[in-house]
Amino acid sequence: MTDQKTFKVNNRHIMQSGIMNPTLREWQGCNSQITTGNFMYPVFIIEKDDEIQPISSMPGINRFGINKLRDHLEKIVENGLKSVLLFGIIDILPKNDTATSADDKDNPVIRAIPKLRKWFPDLTIACDVCLCPYTSHGHCAILAPDGRIDNSASLERISDIALSYAKAGAHIVAPSDMMDGRIGAIKTKLVKNNLGNKVAVLSYTAKFASNFYGPFRDAAKSKPSFGDRKCYQLPHNSSGMALRAADRDVSEGADMLMIKPVMAYMDILKQIKDKYPEYPMFVYQVSGEYAMIYNAAQGGAFDLKPALMEIMGSLRRAGADVIISYFTPLVLEWLKLKNKL
Ligand code: PBG
Ligand code: ZN
Repeated sequence: MTDQKTFKVNNRHIMQSGIMNPTLREWQGCNSQITTGNFMYPVFIIEKDDEIQPISSMPGINRFGINKLRDHLEKIVENGLKSVLLFGIIDILPKNDTATSADDKDNPVIRAIPKLRKWFPDLTIACDVCLCPYTSHGHCAILAPDGRIDNSASLERISDIALSYAKAGAHIVAPSDMMDGRIGAIKTKLVKNNLGNKVAVLSYTAKFASNFYGPFRDAAKSKPSFGDRKCYQLPHNSSGMALRAADRDVSEGADMLMIKPVMAYMDILKQIKDKYPEYPMFVYQVSGEYAMIYNAAQGGAFDLKPALMEIMGSLRRAGADVIISYFTPLVLEWLKLKNKL
């Protein structure tokens, strides 16, 4: 017999015994499991009820008139869709300095909410609240004559718009404007109007000035006509500002918090979730992330399904409770297949 050298592994260092079949592997990461309730689907609604407009920078994503949206959502709701995030886009209504079309009675979101409530009674409806799709200059604020942000005029207008969506029947209002004090302004107005316990406020808490919003600005026709959004969205080198924003939004009464974009900001996600575990944590996998993943799969870098599921699981592991994603219909389809097996 030859004197064979063996390497002994300490019993506590045997890992393969814990991951030897799919069930055991799943047990290792229960906090990163994915179910239908973990997804919110963003949709773009236009004024012409029977129209569908493809968005070239977001292959596979369309803007829908409300009747077409109904057809589109029917199957997704059947597959377990629990909530949508509505964005209005206008071509016919005017854009102006005070974003009057945001809560006009003909605004596509204002018109869509009661219909969606009726057609899909179990669907939770969130509305993005911002001025940029409706201002002539494309900024998320009311501007003073010198071109600077008029914060208090912006708060007044943004909280009015949020109230209009709430009155139209939205379950959740989600301000994405990043004005200082918006959560408090909206909450106060909701409470005054007896909607304090009927409507939730989802804050775009850590919304960074990001290069990943490009395709969305195409989709929503909300590109600023001059300058950028760096004076109100957070600088992407700063975790301090993100934590201060979370502290502020919590103290002003936010019901739920959000990180946006997410893949380049998972450290922020983890920090804020660790600091505020009591609050449901949303992440927005934004348009540029959608395009990046979609195009990488198209280019053969990876197979879409396993790569996307890896990403979704990672977001859950890092602390995301709800993932706002343009891939939602696809993921729900896959979950249904998986559960049937
Ligand atoms: C508007 C708004 C933006 C997004 C959501 N709401 C764009 C922006 O701030 O310029 C981005 C969504 C996406 O890129 O998918 N305030
Ligand atoms: Zn905006």
